[in-house]
Amino acid sequence: MKKNSYLILALSLFLCSCSPKGWTAWEKTVIVQSDSVMYVCVMPQDSAILRTPSRNFGRKEMSSALLQTLIDKMYTTLTDPSQDGVGIAAPQIGINRRAILVMRYDKPGRPIEPYLNIQIDSLLGEKKPGPEGCLSVPPYRGVVRRYPRVQISYVRPDGSPVTEKVEGYSAVIFQHECDHLDGILYIDRADTVFVNENWAAEREAFSYEKPDWWR
Ligand code: NI
Repeated sequence: MKKNSYLILALSLFLCSCSPKGWTAWEKTVIVQSDSVMYVCVMPQDSAILRTPSRNFGRKEMSSALLQTLIDKMYTTLTDPSQDGVGIAAPQIGINRRAILVMRYDKPGRPIEPYLNIQIDSLLGEKKPGPEGCLSVPPYRGVVRRYPRVQISYVRPDGSPVTEKVEGYSAVIFQHECDHLDGILYIDRADTVFVNENWAAEREAFSYEKPDWWR
């Protein structure tokens, strides 16, 4: 291959990687067609989605109205009495993108906030064991050792970038939810996993049936 051909190839690869690709047809279907309480992926039947690492949102998705619809539906799903969780990650509702919602135990009123293109920059302090569950791994609970403080970087829905340090239980939730974005589940890290009778009873009311349009 001539030198020029290499240059053209490199240039096209560069342009390809920069061009905004937007939402996939699958992502649009999930976001638009889901009820406000979305189907939640569970192990083991939805492991293909839950084990896939998630991608960042590009500029095109960040400026799209679909993004707010996704956040709103994730919020409604997380706070529904059938789920009643403290955090949720986009892969759990079938979207392999770096979006999570976290209940901020460290803020007054414990608001649930969205975090986009999130990453953990550093894990701080000594790991401590604590109980964890996951909407995608019913009806189990486990004991997982997590760091007491994290530094995170993310983008707000309005596009503004943020870096902050979080501590306490919120820091544990951030570690759990960011793991989801890398295809990691708490059962991979747990010292022990067990069935909590009360929690199992709570979850019985929830249907795991996928909607008709979900293949
Ligand atoms: Ni989870």
